[in-house]
Amino acid sequence: MNDPTAREPTSPWDLISEWLPANDDPERPQLTLSTVTPAGEADARTVLLTEFNADGFFFHTDAMSRKASNIVNNSSVALTFLWPGFTRQLVVQGRAEVAPAYEIAAAYASRSPYLKQLAWQNTFEFAQLPDSERRARWAAFAREHPDGFAQPDTWIGFLVRPTRMTFWTSAPDSASRRLEYRESSGGWTRAYLPG
Ligand SMILES: Cc1cc2nc3c(=O)[nH]c(=O)nc-3n(C[C@H](O)[C@H](O)[C@H](O)COP(=O)(O)O)c2cc1C
Repeated sequence: MNDPTAREPTSPWDLISEWLPANDDPERPQLTLSTVTPAGEADARTVLLTEFNADGFFFHTDAMSRKASNIVNNSSVALTFLWPGFTRQLVVQGRAEVAPAYEIAAAYASRSPYLKQLAWQNTFEFAQLPDSERRARWAAFAREHPDGFAQPDTWIGFLVRPTRMTFWTSAPDSASRRLEYRESSGGWTRAYLPG
């Protein structure tokens, strides 16, 4: 395949812009978000990447969720993106912080009606109900809010500021390899690693 790492950009953001869809692309990339629990155990789940910019990567979630409390306790996270056909993998290691309020509000405003309602009804109590009751309450909530759903207080976003970004590419006729960028005082250092 055409190996984008062959051009050896000095900034990983050049590759990020090439690898990830633009922020206005409705098809949002899935990623595995890894966190550390207060007991020091690894935890992971899938989230959608809302957007990225020169500061880092943004995702959004419920402030009451396990992932949010993990991050408040320990800001170390890893993000793993996998491309279809096992052609590419991107692993980002970094620190997560609460995103600016204006970014969180803009992200909520851009969500589908379904995801806006989910932000309201994605609670522990709702999860305990039988299916028929869940459907009835979901429909009732939608009926009671014909003009849509305002942003709930529990809606939160995180910005992951990367300290390491590792780009993995496959090569059907050669060995896979990784191009790793690490943050340093002078910018980003770059190294090739075996795959
Ligand atoms: C494809 C996919 C995308 C998801 N996107 C999100 C998301 O953007 N934000 C979110 O909070 N949960 C998302 N979820 C649900 C999470 O994987 C997870 O189950 C939930 O957030 C609770 O995680 P926690 O208990 O570890 O905090 C997604 C799940 C799937 C399968």
